[in-house]
Parts: sequence; structure tokens; C-alpha cells
Amino acid sequence: MSEDNLPSERAHDAHHGAVAVAGDAFADPGLPAHLPRRQDLDEQAAKHSERVVAGLFVLSMLATIGFIASYVTLKPGKIVYIFPVGHVSALNFALGLTLGLALFCIGAGAVHWARTLMSDVETPAERHPIEASPEVRAQVIADFKQGAAESQFGRRKLIRNTMFGAMAMVPLSGLVLLRDLGPLPGKSLRTTAWRKGMTLINPNTNLPLRPEDITTGSLTFAQPPGLSEDDDDFQDVIAKAALMIVRIEPDEIKDKRELDWGHQGIVAFSKICTHVGCPISLYEQQTHHVLCPCHQSTFDLADGGRVIFGPAGHALPQLRISVNGSGYLEALGDFAEPVGPSFWERG
Ligand code: FES
Repeated sequence: MSEDNLPSERAHDAHHGAVAVAGDAFADPGLPAHLPRRQDLDEQAAKHSERVVAGLFVLSMLATIGFIASYVTLKPGKIVYIFPVGHVSALNFALGLTLGLALFCIGAGAVHWARTLMSDVETPAERHPIEASPEVRAQVIADFKQGAAESQFGRRKLIRNTMFGAMAMVPLSGLVLLRDLGPLPGKSLRTTAWRKGMTLINPNTNLPLRPEDITTGSLTFAQPPGLSEDDDDFQDVIAKAALMIVRIEPDEIKDKRELDWGHQGIVAFSKICTHVGCPISLYEQQTHHVLCPCHQSTFDLADGGRVIFGPAGHALPQLRISVNGSGYLEALGDFAEPVGPSFWERG
């Protein structure tokens, strides 16, 4: 700033190498004069703005209904061409468009309401002590009431009610999405794919197993027929139905039911650990113990799959098997108890 532009007192002191300003050298320009809007002067214009705001809120409600309708009616795999976006999922596009429109209309309605109908008179706020005095609190309440009156929240019932409607309906979009959590499991966790007469399939060859395929000292795995790793539900099914089969000399089997549920010493147990569900894969042929690699739970396959070590809560479920007319091993039904973690014993 050149010296000519400084206030006279400051310019004088600058000649002596020090700047001292006595008092406020600049006049407070104050707020510019308030210019009333068209809506402040013309009730017809105000009514028009009211209808625009209400229309935006109604549009928001319709968009929310469109969101729900899209979710219910459009198939997830349907692809459509939308210019200029290109090929997109019809469901994703419709959900994004309708939810975005619903939120945008609420915001646009609120902004238009504030810009055209709420009071736009600027009021300077004087600085106050931090602790509010009773008078200040009373002033705040008075200001709040004045703000409520100036916003015409009470008078413009159409706006108020449509805004409440729009804001109440938008969360419905979130509620509908809860459906993606899937159906309740029902009894599906208590049953597996095994049914009476199903042959035991070798997962490596995809061929049915014969008794002679099960050799003493080896651990053989099996699954129900008709399973393919390409199936959408393959992991769900195999996570419950995976079997391990061993051959034990009948006189070494201590549990009578185990002997009865097998075929000449061939016994089939669930491969899923009863601790937290890891697949069991380590077999000690001398002792007939199987070890879960996750937390070292150890089960005795010569004694009904009993837990002999580790955190597992109950014995491995056994599948009752026999040999069918074609000479293949087959299941005589599903497991008699739920497979997997001991959650069931707490229920
Ligand atoms: S999952 Fe098998 S011991 Fe923990």
C-alpha cells in the first residue's frame, strides 16, 4: 500500500519506522441493503415456489417407490444398453438412478425452499461471552421461534407434510436391501445332501466307490452324486456333506453302533471338524485317530468318532452306509445329527 493511501496518523508514524494505529482507522461498511425477492412481494410467486418445492418432495417419493419396484421386478443378470454409458446391469442402473433421484429431490427441494421462501434477511451477530446468560438463552429461544416462523414451517403445511413423507420413505430403500442378506436358514443347517440310496462318489474320479476301493490304513474321501465344482451351491453342499471313509478290522471297532452302521468294517464319518468346521485330513492308521489341522482336535474313528483331544465339543457324526445291488457303497439316509461346529449343543 502506498503511503498516500494510508490513514493520516499511520502515514505520519511510518516516517519514524513504527506503525501505530490509534483507534479503528477504517469505517465499518456495514451490510449491504436488503433487497426483497419476488416471493417476498408477490404471494402468487410464493405459492409457485411452494408448489415447486412440494413437487420435488413428491418426485422423491415416487423415485423411492421406483427403487423398490426395480429391486423387486428386475432380474440381477439382465443387461441393457444405455447411451452413453454402454452395456450395464439393468438392476444396478435402475437402483442407482432412482435412489440418486430420491436423495437429489429432497436436497433440491430444501435448497429451493430456503432460497425462495425462508427469510433471507441477514442479521449481524454480536460477539458474546462464552457462557450464555439467561437473557441469551431466552434470546436463542426467541430466535428459534422467529426462525421457525420465518421459514413458514407451520404455515406451509403442504411443504412440511411432503418433506416429512419424502424423508420417511427414503430409508425404505435401505430396508429393502436387507433382503439381500438372504432367506433365513430354517432347517438347512441341520441336514445335508445325503439321502437313502445315494452312492458314495470318489471326488477325484467322480466314480462310485466299491468296498474293495477302501483299503486298510488309507483315508478315502467321498461326496454325494451329481455334484460339480461349477455348481453355484457346490461349496454350500460339500461343506456339510464331505465324507471320510476308513476300513478298520471289525474286532478293533469298540463302538457297537459304529460297527452296525458300517459295512464289514468300512465306516464313513463327516469330514467336518466339530470344533469350528475345518476339513479333517490327517489319519493315523495304527491308532485310527484323525487329527484336525486347525486346532489339533483328535477323534478316534475306532470308537464312534469320539473326541480324545482338543477343543472339539462332540464326536464326529457317522453316516450309515451299506452296499447296493450293483456292489457300490451307498448311504442309508442322512446323518442322524447336525454336522460341523458344536453350536447345536448350546441351542
Ligand atoms: S476346527 Fe478342528 S480343532 Fe478347531
